[in-house]
Amino acid sequence: MGDDGLVRLQVELAPRHKTGLLLKNPVMTAAGTFGYGVELARLAEVQRLGAVICKGTTLRARTANAPLQMLEVASGLVHAIGLQNPGVRVVAEKYAPIWASWETLVIVNVAGTSIDEYVEVVEYLEGVAGIAGIELNVSCLDVQQGGVTVGASPQVIADVTIAVRNATTLPLIVKLSPNTGDLRPAALAAASAGADAVSLINTLTSISIDIHTRRLRFDNDLSGFSGPAIKPIALRMVYEVASELRSSHPDIPVIGVGGISSTQDALEFLMAGASAIQVGSMNFVNPRICVEIVEGIDAFLRQEGIKDVRAIVGAAL
Ligand SMILES: Cc1cc2nc3c(=O)[nH]c(=O)nc-3n(C[C@H](O)[C@H](O)[C@H](O)COP(=O)(O)O)c2cc1C
Repeated sequence: MGDDGLVRLQVELAPRHKTGLLLKNPVMTAAGTFGYGVELARLAEVQRLGAVICKGTTLRARTANAPLQMLEVASGLVHAIGLQNPGVRVVAEKYAPIWASWETLVIVNVAGTSIDEYVEVVEYLEGVAGIAGIELNVSCLDVQQGGVTVGASPQVIADVTIAVRNATTLPLIVKLSPNTGDLRPAALAAASAGADAVSLINTLTSISIDIHTRRLRFDNDLSGFSGPAIKPIALRMVYEVASELRSSHPDIPVIGVGGISSTQDALEFLMAGASAIQVGSMNFVNPRICVEIVEGIDAFLRQEGIKDVRAIVGAAL
């Protein structure tokens, strides 16, 4: 405990950036699983979270894929929601003024089908009050499969990161897709190209078959797989990337995402080298899960007599 009896939960996610991205605790909602944060703000006690990552935002509005978009499977979800969103103009005009009055930071998740589109989206967001940072969903650049993330090559990641870095003054997180298997080359590419942090993992590519029609269930064929079942894979990838960056880019934090459903899971990611974590699919099961994890981390640190959450980051590396 500190002299004031409080455990320090703050984490800095952009130490290389001039203003930084200081979160009051390391727990965030993952993109696409918590809307714009305003819908569940009260129930989920949004003001107690480290940050909210909003839905993927593109230049123009995108409508939904076919009606069946999400399916519960054993220990997870498969979905083909695509990048349904109202477009950056609405995000800036409708939601950002609300976020500007919040204590909790909001990071806008940005998507596009070309590097130019990413650049235009972040240019539009430049100087808009209420936006603390950008998270780039780089996975939809190489292949457009209804928003399912197939994974961009290190070269594409470097190209989009450099272009966006030059177009925004906001802290920049690059979010990596797991579908290339080993995320170390992608993480190194993002770090070398000017990202302030990397987040991982996005969804795994998957399919589902309707046994009556004997056809693939989703119009876009591929769906994204997420939820508790992917946790051990995500944890392994975070561990590998954190080990790699610790030696080559010690000032680039890693943000762990994938299957987190409890305090225990969140602590494992922190010990694997994540400076912060995001909770995705489990928000649909329990919209209060993030605040429960904030409380759980605080309780664990007290029990262990640890004063500062940063003391456990990378403890297992
Ligand atoms: C319904 C749904 C929509 C998603 N939309 C986005 C998105 O717009 N942008 C993005 O980067 N990731 C998106 N994701 C991926 C999540 O942010 C997260 O990386 C992934 O689901 C793994 O975490 P989880 O297992 O806790 O859900 C989405 C996931 C789901 C389930």
